[in-house]
Amino acid sequence: MLVCISKVLDAAQVVSLRERLDRAGDAWVDGRVTAGYQGAPLKFNQQIDERSEVALACQRIVGAALERNPMFISAVLPNIIYPPMFNRYGEGMKFGGHVDGSVRIHPHDGRKLRTDVSATLFLSNPADYDGGELKVEDTYGLHSIKLEAGDMVVYPATSLHEVAPITRGVRTACFFWVQSLVRGDHRRTMLYEMDSAIQRLNQTGADEVARRTLIGCYHNLVREWSET
Ligand code: NI
Repeated sequence: MLVCISKVLDAAQVVSLRERLDRAGDAWVDGRVTAGYQGAPLKFNQQIDERSEVALACQRIVGAALERNPMFISAVLPNIIYPPMFNRYGEGMKFGGHVDGSVRIHPHDGRKLRTDVSATLFLSNPADYDGGELKVEDTYGLHSIKLEAGDMVVYPATSLHEVAPITRGVRTACFFWVQSLVRGDHRRTMLYEMDSAIQRLNQTGADEVARRTLIGCYHNLVREWSET
């Protein structure tokens, strides 16, 4: 399931992040430092050194926003969130088709994290660059994604995806992975749809007893399927 979540960051938060990132200087390194042997020949971008001060400051801003976002929580059911990373693509840069690595080492505590969900949080306005679409293939076809600054897409980390070449301007973004409480995409999708339906029923004041039963079923399914 691919879900676009609007306004994860407000305009002021985007400006604050962009100010830090745009003057990060030496903290920008070749993106291939974190690519595996499959990804490295395909990856042409820059990213912020994930142990730099600027990375830690920006990770705190994004992390706090994710914790407050009910749609992110519902769609992803996060267990462990990899500390958000930051990249940029200038003219001619791209990342060819690949599937993200299945396991990553948490940079702060050395834990292994299974990547169930991949996320891209856009930090450049679409008018500021040409190209740079995130193209994701899933069972329903190819999705081409280019969102407003502050908006985010989450999609199964099992998906083949690429970043199209930039033909004008610069595309700055935040990206990260999540180990979900619920490993399988089809189960997460059903839980997300069920939770969204319950939210609608809550808003429309539907029968309380029926809602209570549905909410119970939702939590019992999460209990049945989650692993921590
Ligand atoms: Ni990727």
